[in-house]
Amino acid sequence: MCGIFGYLGKRDDALELVIKGLQKLEYRGYDSWGVTTDLDGELFVEKKVGKISEANLDDFKDKKTGLAMGHTRWATHGGVTDVNSHPHFDPERQIAVVHNGIIENYQELRDELGKENFVSETDTEVIAHLIAKYRKELPFKEAVLKTIQRLEGRYAIVVMNVGENYLIAARRGSPLIVGIGDGEYFLASDIPAFLEYTQDVNYLDDNEMVIVDGGVEFLNLETGDPIDKRLVNIDWQAESAEKGEYDHFMLKEIMEQKETIHRAINQDTDEIMHIAQQIKSSRGCFLSGCGTAGKVCMAGEYFFSMIAHRHVNFAPSSEFPIYHHFLRPESLLVVISQSGETADVLEAMEAAKSKGSKVLSLVNVEGSTIARQSDFSLHIKAGPEKAVASTKAATSQMALLLLIATAMIGELQEGRRLLAEVASKINDILNPRFLTYIKSVAEAIKDHENCYIIGKAENYPMALEAAIKIQEVSYIHAEGFAAGELKHGPIALITEGTPCISIVANDEVKQDIISNTMELKARGAYIIGISPENNEAFDEWIKVPDVGVASPLVNIIPIQLLAYYIAVLRGLDPDMPRNLAKSVTVK
Ligand code: G6P
Repeated sequence: MCGIFGYLGKRDDALELVIKGLQKLEYRGYDSWGVTTDLDGELFVEKKVGKISEANLDDFKDKKTGLAMGHTRWATHGGVTDVNSHPHFDPERQIAVVHNGIIENYQELRDELGKENFVSETDTEVIAHLIAKYRKELPFKEAVLKTIQRLEGRYAIVVMNVGENYLIAARRGSPLIVGIGDGEYFLASDIPAFLEYTQDVNYLDDNEMVIVDGGVEFLNLETGDPIDKRLVNIDWQAESAEKGEYDHFMLKEIMEQKETIHRAINQDTDEIMHIAQQIKSSRGCFLSGCGTAGKVCMAGEYFFSMIAHRHVNFAPSSEFPIYHHFLRPESLLVVISQSGETADVLEAMEAAKSKGSKVLSLVNVEGSTIARQSDFSLHIKAGPEKAVASTKAATSQMALLLLIATAMIGELQEGRRLLAEVASKINDILNPRFLTYIKSVAEAIKDHENCYIIGKAENYPMALEAAIKIQEVSYIHAEGFAAGELKHGPIALITEGTPCISIVANDEVKQDIISNTMELKARGAYIIGISPENNEAFDEWIKVPDVGVASPLVNIIPIQLLAYYIAVLRGLDPDMPRNLAKSVTVK
């Protein structure tokens, strides 16, 4: 949801460095991009519609500077045009601003500042104009502080002023991380932007501002008082955020599931037990997340029911706040998020906290806002996930939920053993022959306009997740159903040759879903069965290992691959699907 990056330091290729850093943040938005710097008192600006990965670094080689900033945009206010791209400026073009978030009172501020003076349709431009207004009577830093105090909404911003060698940044609701190198400083929406230069970071919290000049100074945005921040060392290796030998991050991340599940389950036993105990002692436990994380929560509902015989409720985070009627201090909200920055999830957390309920989280990005704003947070340790479509984070999240469910009944060790077996069987299936077969199935269905997926019990959420995977990267209309619901409407959509995926685990509902699959076949559907055993209903059989109650973890993998290959065969970029962003920091 927009990536921002600023650099100040000893190097003289700051513009190239900022562009390379933004290329690593491209997953946050790829409608357009822009960079700016001060070249001997003159503002240099480049803004372009399109992906920053297509920027030509050679165009910037002769622009020597030690200070630069830029932005990669996911459009919210104003169309996808060069002029709406960030940075934005004051009318005199002395002050530049990049922004991630939404300024909710921008119309009011535009009116105050004179609508006719604005060149873009964005909410961001008001920030630069307002700083310029206050700048007439105040030193620059104070003008920035006063401006920020007037902004309503969510933001992370970085500001520079021509002729002055420093950057100022602030946040409320959108991520901003300060990388501290040796005589150099980085301000970015996410760590991979600067991971190759430093692993020492300060997370900026809400209502904080940072001034980066020869050092860093943190201030409270409301009072302007200085604050102390803790330096955190990040244990990610730079290469784990790179594609390596793979054509796309999505494929790399699917393949990494051989290892990531192990990392997820080798968590500190006390921490798992703590969460299990919190769920057990709560009165009213809710699971919440968005998109793929939401489908993981649904799978969690089944795990808690089937393994721990415990009722938990799932609600998508965007819907959760209305549940506040049910919340009490003894209620518990468990949120799941890969990025740890999703605005809807943060809002669900606020709703729970307003009723005195506790909030636990499972996140992938350590130090993220959701992690820091939870009463207790567990890190899923999947490593950086860059493709927009979530894959390895989802299986790690499911593994942890299953593990917690086993811990609730005193069977944590058995849970660990089962999941270790799952990880090793995933390792076995992710072989070249399996990939080639999935690719051939993708070839068979890639030109269809519709695809339906059915699942039952703990695999019903996987049918929904399968639909998300196929929709988001291949743009085929895909829908997932609870298998038994077919006959109540969706079966009318089936015609000769319609591709239908049936997820058939070796469980107590197997016969029911086989019957539903036969009903589809009888109407001409082309059936792709995902199952440990073949069946006469299947036109294609994707064989997966039988891992009992953990079946969603293995069943989703061929569907992730199928979605990936369909996208590639249709000539699409699976890492950057249209209209989407990896981290959704707006409501
Ligand atoms: C976006 C992404 C999805 C992701 C969802 C929730 O929509 O495109 O892949 O599942 O956000 O993100 P989170 O970071 O909270 O898991």
